[in-house]
Amino acid sequence: MREIDQRLASKRQAAELGGGQARIDRHHQRGKLTSRERLEILLDEGSFTESDMFVEHRCVDFGMQDQKIPGDGVVTGWGTINGRLVFVFSQDFTVFGGSLSEAHAEKICKIMDQAMKSGAPVIGLNDSGGARIQEGVASLGGYADVFQRNVLASGVVPQISMIMGPCAGGAVYSPAMTDFIFMVKDTSYMFVTGPEVVKTVTHEEVTHEELGGAETHSTISGVCDLAFENELHALRKLREFYDFLPLNNREKPPVRPCEDPPNREETSLDTLVPENPNQPYDIRELITKTVDDGHFFEIQPDFARNIIVGMARMNGSTVGFVANQPLVLAGCLDIKSSTKAARFVRFCDAFNIPIVTYVDVPGFLPGTAQEYGGIIKHGAKLLFAYAQCTVPKVTVITRKAYGGAYDVMASKHLRGDVNLAWPNAEIAVMGPKGAVEIIFRSDIGDAEKIEQRTEEYREKFANPFVAASRGYIDDVITPARTRTHICKALAMLANKQLENPWRKHDNLPL
Ligand code: HXC
Repeated sequence: MREIDQRLASKRQAAELGGGQARIDRHHQRGKLTSRERLEILLDEGSFTESDMFVEHRCVDFGMQDQKIPGDGVVTGWGTINGRLVFVFSQDFTVFGGSLSEAHAEKICKIMDQAMKSGAPVIGLNDSGGARIQEGVASLGGYADVFQRNVLASGVVPQISMIMGPCAGGAVYSPAMTDFIFMVKDTSYMFVTGPEVVKTVTHEEVTHEELGGAETHSTISGVCDLAFENELHALRKLREFYDFLPLNNREKPPVRPCEDPPNREETSLDTLVPENPNQPYDIRELITKTVDDGHFFEIQPDFARNIIVGMARMNGSTVGFVANQPLVLAGCLDIKSSTKAARFVRFCDAFNIPIVTYVDVPGFLPGTAQEYGGIIKHGAKLLFAYAQCTVPKVTVITRKAYGGAYDVMASKHLRGDVNLAWPNAEIAVMGPKGAVEIIFRSDIGDAEKIEQRTEEYREKFANPFVAASRGYIDDVITPARTRTHICKALAMLANKQLENPWRKHDNLPL
């Protein structure tokens, strides 16, 4: 072998060995894969092209000049997922804990810049102790350079973060500005400051898991969109999720050949909604029975469970689904569910993904906890998101659509394109009982009269026909034919054109 070839081979080997075999072994013992092993699972076989394998840090403090590892703790490049281009970076915890140096940041920035030019998503596999402590402000600057690119790429190319180890400090803020954050249970953590700092500052004693584990962030904080059992499962599900997304904001979502007939009827849906309007039912059943092959990819399933969001396909094309869930809090809108759905609606709108909304909502959740928490502002986020979005919007009211929540949930008034209702839908300012107690307050002592008034109100307003007579509902449909109606509507809307007025940017109620 020529000397130069030998040098190249040994440099490659050094890069591939990262922080050394001992650290790799320790990493494996923790149930974690190395940065390169992760990429092998995520990407199509043989598709990965690595760049910047020989980049080294430039730090000379704390003896760092003698500790240079080619690649400097992050593997970057591009490849394909089911044949579609993707840019990736995968942090190597065996090299200084995956911490971000100036050079490490430059590598990430380089592939982000290329992703923007090529119009393809960026997936980050994050496993990092944050800013490289030995480098001081140079690493902070590196983070800011990444943050700036996250923001400029937002809404231009999809950005997905998979958290695969302890991520602290800057290592959580870059993911926070990406579109989706996925985590691996038991081996990944996200926190701004770790348990030791928490103890010093607030005297709270908390474990890594309690403070920032996948369970915490997928159920309590809502920071995490999905938590997976292990790394292998996580990476495979990420491949599945990727297939739903367009590569950039100028593309339509990918279309797959579909064997499931668009006019498939589902007679069981005719009895999905119970006779008793106060009895709950599982709206997820409606989603899975109407989408292609029952395949629904739910996002944030364990957070704000009173609303369901996720991706599916209708006649082969990606569609975003939003649905009130009567099983939880009767499907009310509250702070968390409004924020969750608003973010999802905005993602779909940014990337040309049509939105189907299933409505069964008794209103906004009342109470001091909600008011003090700012439900006015947070509920307005969902209203704002639906009103602003220009992608095709198809809405089906299955039962209740009361009050402000009727307006919010992709109503005709917010430029809903096709608004449908099932025959038993109730569309009114509020439920019959509440309405009668307000407008006939003087009759409250007279149970018979109240009962009669309630029946009268129900007869008059608790149906879809008043809204249909005004054209707010385009049609009242048989539940069994819901899929047919949605597929027809989406086909009609395939080339929908709608633009909002020019502005620098809107002022979403944050
Ligand atoms: C340099 C680091 C490092 C860091 C870890 N290491 N974090 N080196 N800079 N930030 C090194 C360790 O020295 C160790 O080296 C190796 O990585 C593995 O770390 P361990 O502590 O042995 O691993 P573990 O017990 O699993 O703990 C992982 C950890 C912990 C939870 C990430 O290392 C940790 O708390 N690190 C510091 C986190 C932090 O405070 N980061 C700065 C945040 S400030 P050896 O040689 O022994 O293998 C920040 C500012 C940006 O990011 C803010 C922008 C908004």
